[in-house]
Amino acid sequence: MQDYANYYKRQAAAAGIELVETGMVVGLGSGSTSEIMIELLAERVKQEGLDIAAIATSVKSANLAEQLGLRLVTFDQYVSIDLTLDGADEIQISRLDLIKGLGAALWREKIVAACSDRLVILADESKIVTYLGQKSPVPVEVAQFGWQTTRHHIMELFDGAEAELRHKSGKALVTDGGNYILDCRFGEITEPEELDMLLTTLPGVVVTGIFCRFAEHAIIAGEEGVRMIEPIVTDYDQSDAGLA
Ligand code: A5P
Repeated sequence: MQDYANYYKRQAAAAGIELVETGMVVGLGSGSTSEIMIELLAERVKQEGLDIAAIATSVKSANLAEQLGLRLVTFDQYVSIDLTLDGADEIQISRLDLIKGLGAALWREKIVAACSDRLVILADESKIVTYLGQKSPVPVEVAQFGWQTTRHHIMELFDGAEAELRHKSGKALVTDGGNYILDCRFGEITEPEELDMLLTTLPGVVVTGIFCRFAEHAIIAGEEGVRMIEPIVTDYDQSDAGLA
């Protein structure tokens, strides 16, 4: 099963890097699919002599890109990105709303997504869902200071919500941005944009892993081959209730 998932991730990553053109500033995502993408992109850059600049969404991706010889730049040099290739934890099929951040890189990922002309998500088909929250918790990055009260507020604001502090090696996980993560469950998320906005009104919340209106396309690999999907519902006032 894992082998199939890796094969599909590789296929999605291989299709994604074909969108890169010489002269571009490219956003590099985080997670295992993005790591495969970075490896394939570095090979392609060498083979074809492409001139690209890259901005990474995590320290881990930046280190990998550097090791492989990609030219890393910063926002001192560029304030926008032509194309970002990134993974996701859930992809809502009709709107391409996303849950991201199981790899803890959500803050940088959102900053990069927001300044990208194009965000293309690379994933195997297991990431497709009919509604957000179907499989994955929503990672919410919170300030370390007062995280307990932020957690309390989240659970108070959303009846029945659960919020669990993420740990790694027995300790609270600290993100690249120096914050903690609460993995939250809200049941079926029917209005992700509203949920995102409400959560970010809490002073202790830095950013949520709900990404609405960011993805231009998703490249999904699975049993049916590689598909390039675009949002089919773009009007957020229109109900797409039948799809959930
Ligand atoms: C990182 O914080 C996440 O947003 C990743 O993009 C996500 O976890 C996808 O990872 P995989 O490619 O390993 O599934």
